Amino acid sequence: MQTNLKKIKIVGIDVHIGSQISNLNAFRQTFEHLAKLIDELKNINIHLENIDIGGGLGIKYTDEDLEPDLHEYSALVKKILGHLNCRIIFEPGRYIVGNCGILVTKVLYKKTSQNKNFLITDAGMNDFSRTALYGATHKLIPLYKNKSGKTGIFDVVGPVCESTDTFLKNYLVEGAETGDFLAFLDVGAYGAVLSSEYNTRPLVPEIMVYNKRYELVRSRPTYEEIFDRETMPNWE
Ligand SMILES: Cc1ncc(COP(=O)(O)O)c(C=O)c1O
Repeated sequence: MQTNLKKIKIVGIDVHIGSQISNLNAFRQTFEHLAKLIDELKNINIHLENIDIGGGLGIKYTDEDLEPDLHEYSALVKKILGHLNCRIIFEPGRYIVGNCGILVTKVLYKKTSQNKNFLITDAGMNDFSRTALYGATHKLIPLYKNKSGKTGIFDVVGPVCESTDTFLKNYLVEGAETGDFLAFLDVGAYGAVLSSEYNTRPLVPEIMVYNKRYELVRSRPTYEEIFDRETMPNWE
C-alpha cells in the first residue's frame, strides 16, 4: 500500500523557502529537512522521483547585498540530496534574469521643496513596482555625459500621484537635466511582469537586446487599444 489515497501517486516534493537569500545556512537546513522527510516517506513505501528545491538565490542589487557562492550551493545540494536517487529541479528566478534588464527613464523635471531636491522621472510605480511593493533599492545610473559637472542629492520619484511612487531617497545623481536619460539596473526579474496600467498609463515597451541586435518584444499599447478592451454592460 502506498497511502490510503488510492487514486493519487505521490511522485515528488516541492519547496520554496523565500527570495533574495544570501546565507546558505537556510538552504542547508531546508535540504536536511527534505532528506529526512524523503527517508521517512521511503519507510512507508513512498518513493519520490522528483525533488523541487525552488529558487531564492539572492543577487546583488546594491553594494551591501551579498550573493551566495553557486559552487558552494551546488556542493550543498549534491552532499545532502545527491544520494537520494531523485531528479532535482531548480527554480532560480532572479538569479537567472534579474541583472538582464534595465529600465530606461527620462527626467521630466527637477524641483526643490522643503529643502529637498526631487528628480521626477517618467517611469512610475506602475512601470516598476518593486520599490513600492517591497521597499527594494535599485541602482540608478546616468545615460548621458555630465555636461555641467554638477552632482546633487535627490529623492528620485515617479509622476504618479501616490506617496509610494518613490524609487530612491537621498541618492547621488550626476548633473541630470530635464530630458536626460537614466537607467534603473537589475530590473529583469519582477519588473515588467509586475507593471500595470494604473492611472491609464500605457505599459512600457520592452526591447530585447542581443549583442548589437535589438527588437521590440512588447509594444506600448495606444489609448485606443486600452479603452477597446473595456466594455460597459448593457443593463437597462
Ligand atoms: C515557487 C517559487 N519558485 C521560485 C521562485 C523564484 O524565486 P527567486 O526569483 O527569488 O529565485 C518563486 C518566487 O516567488 C516561487 O514562488
